[in-house]
Amino acid sequence: MPDTLNPAPGHPLPIPDETTRQRSLAKYRQRAAAYDSTCGPTWGIRERCIAALQLQRGQSVLDVACGTGLSLALLRQRVGGAEGTAGQVYGFDHSAEMLVQARARAAAAGWGNVQLFETAAQALALPKPVDALLFHYTHDILRSPDALRCVLAQARPGARVAIAGIKYFPRWLAPLNAWVYWKNHAYNGAPGELRSPWDRIAPRLDDWQFEATQWGMGYIASGRLRAMAAP
Ligand SMILES: C[S@@+](CC[C@H](N)C(=O)[O-])C[C@H]1O[C@@H](n2cnc3c(N)ncnc32)[C@H](O)[C@@H]1O
Repeated sequence: MPDTLNPAPGHPLPIPDETTRQRSLAKYRQRAAAYDSTCGPTWGIRERCIAALQLQRGQSVLDVACGTGLSLALLRQRVGGAEGTAGQVYGFDHSAEMLVQARARAAAAGWGNVQLFETAAQALALPKPVDALLFHYTHDILRSPDALRCVLAQARPGARVAIAGIKYFPRWLAPLNAWVYWKNHAYNGAPGELRSPWDRIAPRLDDWQFEATQWGMGYIASGRLRAMAAP
């Protein structure tokens, strides 16, 4: 298996994580207030991505970079059972401006089984390993080996993983990719690497399923976290 989380010597140096994070934090300081109003067109993608987790009543799930918490109710419905109180939903985000909205959502609804953390993905430490991971529009985290390593370490081997995000159109629509880049630029600290943004996480998953969405400028992928070989 290629070691996608430890780039080989001589591999071009990525933008340092801290620079990327500071750019992301600055963008979401600006975008947080209006963020929810931009998410309507991708609501169906969110629902399909969450369905791909195949969650069961009583399971635990982590909403990676949960932002304003738009996925929390759907996740809670699936793990919570009829009363909604079973299972556990965790979420985290490094943006205080995004997370305050997620916290308000959870508090207003009185969700006792939703726990949110303000932290960088690179420093995440959950109380216990989860059964499933949702990566919904989390490009910066998918492109950071440190962030990805830390997030994947929070799930048990065999955990379901579902990913949705933006990618470049296929080559025959390449002229539209400048627009895709600028669209992504508005939301991410490291906006490039849109050819195959999943290529660091895919080698860590079994049962890989992939579907292009939005005429080729989006994707939904899923799999099951492979157990790491002992060192
Ligand atoms: C496009 S938003 C997606 C939010 C949410 N997942 C959703 O589907 O609505 C990307 C989120 O990633 C968060 N983020 C980016 N880099 C991060 C990092 N290194 N650690 C934690 N959160 C990060 C941003 O603050 C932002 O809330």
